[in-house]
Amino acid sequence: MEAKLSVNINKIATIRNSRGANTPDLLKVAMDCERFGAQGITVHPRPDERHIRYKDVHDLKPLLTTEFNIEGNPKEQKFVDLVMEIKPAQVTLVPDVTGQLTSDHGWDTIENKAYLIEMISYFKKAGIRTSIFVDADIKMIEGAKETGTDRIELYTESYARHFNSDKEKAIQPFISAAKKANELGIGINAGHDLSLENLNYFAKNIPGLLEVSIGHALISDALYYGLENTIQLYLRQLKTSL
Ligand code: PXP
Repeated sequence: MEAKLSVNINKIATIRNSRGANTPDLLKVAMDCERFGAQGITVHPRPDERHIRYKDVHDLKPLLTTEFNIEGNPKEQKFVDLVMEIKPAQVTLVPDVTGQLTSDHGWDTIENKAYLIEMISYFKKAGIRTSIFVDADIKMIEGAKETGTDRIELYTESYARHFNSDKEKAIQPFISAAKKANELGIGINAGHDLSLENLNYFAKNIPGLLEVSIGHALISDALYYGLENTIQLYLRQLKTSL
């Protein structure tokens, strides 16, 4: 089975918000992503609502037909309330601080064990699949198992950064982390800085990869190739037979 492509539409909201009106239309873009083949839509509402607004999340819910993934830090009560109201297919917990430019580290699953156990069981009881953002570090994967999470999302920035200089070395910690997650029965998602250039090598080498969430590179590529073509190109890169 190929990993699913969840398109992160934060960037669309950033462009819209820069002019105050409704262009581009976030809801239309999300539905078009699905129509063009994306198997999921990801949003990351941040407390300052600088891209995705809380209202967007409410508006998207009845329109989406694929997997809705909401990312954010559960330390924000507003985020927890939103997720419980919307009941998406998946919530991805990210340890961002307020005002952070973009996610830049995974959870310390050992230090935050008690807290993560509490939040994960809260979401799971509501029927929401849970995923937690983690670095490709065996100790963090073992810690993730203790939290009861359904999945982890591997933070792929270091893989992407070193891909051009030494891709075999760059992927090594991710292969080890994925093997450990498979052994422990934790599902594997991945995201951050994945691109047309580095995606196929990642998908081919990570055993049991279930989903990637991609925003920045995909939306940037769409400027050149168009959204429909771009989504097709990313889906093609997820083919492990390529
Ligand atoms: N996963 C998480 C937890 C993120 O915060 C982001 C960025 O919002 C992504 C994946 C997607 O990263 P990118 O925009 O670099 O594709």
